[in-house]
Amino acid sequence: MDEIVRQGIEEITSNFDLEVVEGKNILVTGGAGFLGSWICDVLVENKANVISVDNLSSGQKGNISHLLGKKNFKFMELDITQPILFDEKIDLVMHLASRASPFEFERAKEEVVNIGSEKEVTILELAKLVNELTNSSSEVEFHPLPKDDPPRRKTDISKAKNLLDWKPKVSLEEGLRRMIEWFKRKLEL
Ligand SMILES: NC(=O)c1ccc[n+]([C@@H]2O[C@H](COP(=O)([O-])OP(=O)(O)OC[C@H]3O[C@@H](n4cnc5c(N)ncnc54)[C@H](O)[C@@H]3O)[C@@H](O)[C@H]2O)c1
Repeated sequence: MDEIVRQGIEEITSNFDLEVVEGKNILVTGGAGFLGSWICDVLVENKANVISVDNLSSGQKGNISHLLGKKNFKFMELDITQPILFDEKIDLVMHLASRASPFEFERAKEEVVNIGSEKEVTILELAKLVNELTNSSSEVEFHPLPKDDPPRRKTDISKAKNLLDWKPKVSLEEGLRRMIEWFKRKLEL
């Protein structure tokens, strides 16, 4: 295994609650992709029984070749849009399979469904809201936009609404409140 990958896994593992994954059957969809294969590395190292499912549409078997043959790792070359039957009971699913880049969106236009919020919020509005909800007096600093950073993003979720009857249920403010509460508990503040 590559030394940088080894160091990365050690760092993630040191912040990891081992009991959550040890001995569990964990399905990683997109498990031969960039993020999915990393997740497989971390889970295998932490004694989970990992099943990586990937149709190799953009991922590569090379990303997981070092895991093939390990007792607690299984790779299945399958398409997750089709029903899959597993021999074992699955305890946890980590879903990373997707068309992940703009290049991939173009190649697979028919398969891509956007999800997100239709409501546009500027980063300044977001920063002010975070300050307000956390009672913080942090100053907002302005820096030049990084090269090629899109100045506007607005998700078109009409396909998700039509096909899946999906729309966001939690408002930005409510989502932030929940996240702040979670961090307070986690950090024991
Ligand atoms: N890479 C990043 O920095 C980053 C950042 C934020 C979010 N994400 C999200 O994380 C997810 C994974 O990203 P990634 O960078 O690992 O992408 P990736 O393209 O490397 O991995 C996606 C994997 O899913 C597989 N896949 C696609 N369709 C499939 C199907 N129908 N059945 C089975 N496998 C299928 C591909 O072959 C690939 O291995 C994406 O949803 C992406 O938007 C990635």
